Amino acid sequence: MTDFKAFWVEKTEDSMISSVITRSTDDLPEGDVLIKVAYSSVNYKDALSATGNPGVTRNFPHTPGIDAAGEVVESSDPAFKAGDEVICIGFDLGMNTPGGFGEYIRVPAGWVTALPRGLSTRESMVIGTAGFTAALCLDKIETMGAKPADGPVLVTGATGGVGSIAVMLLAKQGYEVIASSGKADKTDYLKSLGATTVITRDELSEVDKRPMVAPQWAHSIDCVGGEILSNVIKGLQPLGSVAICGLVASPAFTTTVLPFILRGVNILGIDSVEIPIEYKNRIWDKLANQWKLSDLDAATQEVGLSDLAPVIEAIFAGQVSGRTLVTH
Ligand SMILES: NC(=O)c1ccc[n+]([C@@H]2O[C@H](COP(=O)([O-])OP(=O)(O)OC[C@H]3O[C@@H](n4cnc5c(N)ncnc54)[C@H](OP(=O)(O)O)[C@@H]3O)[C@@H](O)[C@H]2O)c1
Repeated sequence: MTDFKAFWVEKTEDSMISSVITRSTDDLPEGDVLIKVAYSSVNYKDALSATGNPGVTRNFPHTPGIDAAGEVVESSDPAFKAGDEVICIGFDLGMNTPGGFGEYIRVPAGWVTALPRGLSTRESMVIGTAGFTAALCLDKIETMGAKPADGPVLVTGATGGVGSIAVMLLAKQGYEVIASSGKADKTDYLKSLGATTVITRDELSEVDKRPMVAPQWAHSIDCVGGEILSNVIKGLQPLGSVAICGLVASPAFTTTVLPFILRGVNILGIDSVEIPIEYKNRIWDKLANQWKLSDLDAATQEVGLSDLAPVIEAIFAGQVSGRTLVTH
């Protein structure tokens, strides 16, 4: 039994209260692998969990944190042994299973990825679920044939966690990147990550009744949904693809069949949570090798457990840029 620190969210009748408390590894659920967490990261979903969103977390009190990386302490599964460095993201981690905002987690072996050679635990958590999702988006549009010569790729919600890493990954692979952002003062930041052109969120937010407009981008990674996604689809080049991963603007969007039957465009769904562990391992391997980002710190701020409450508030206020690494 080991005592450890954890970020702790309690639900009262009319509010959510957070604090940092001491817990014991005996309090953790049954599972194959006990992991001492070195790093976690803050994602939009953690903010939803910490504020009591029942679609993410039903049982309180609770420790959020959908991301964790660290060292195996004990394992009943032969795939892992004490001392192995590992990553655990998605599945139920941080939803209704105590997550990476605690110094220890215990999880099924099927949720765990061996840290690939070429990536540190710190780098894996700067990437985190957000960056991993950006990589899934790139993987999927390339599976549909996307390549740099096709033309520019539009990233929406570009200063966010998914968006920032998407801009970096696309630029590193040689794509021309158009970044759309609601933050007028982040143009230089987005260009420093690799965007060629920055457009305002307002340009994409206007309701346009036309079913299609002149093609403006070859492909897109959309983090926001809503009217912006409707306009992204209208402006895709023939045979273009948009990978859809987020809903910060709205889960709903409108379209007609015309872009699909006249331009052959594709909408591609992205799920980083429940995809098979073998698929996750393959994407982590790419992030450690051909897609390795050397300048991750350009998009990273670092916090401890006692700094988490204001970060969560800033996420809902749309004030966070890039990735927030949690160090234990
Ligand atoms: N499918 C999956 O498996 C998966 C995995 C990870 C995340 N997600 C989802 O992807 C989305 C982005 O996640 P994230 O971690 O990148 O979140 P984030 O860091 O909070 O970034 C979201 C970005 O969206 C933009 N934005 C904020 N409010 C907006 C609004 N009302 N309308 C339009 N744009 C708005 C902002 O960028 P700008 O100011 O630059 O516009 C913001 O930085 C979330 O919906 C999250 O749930 C899904």
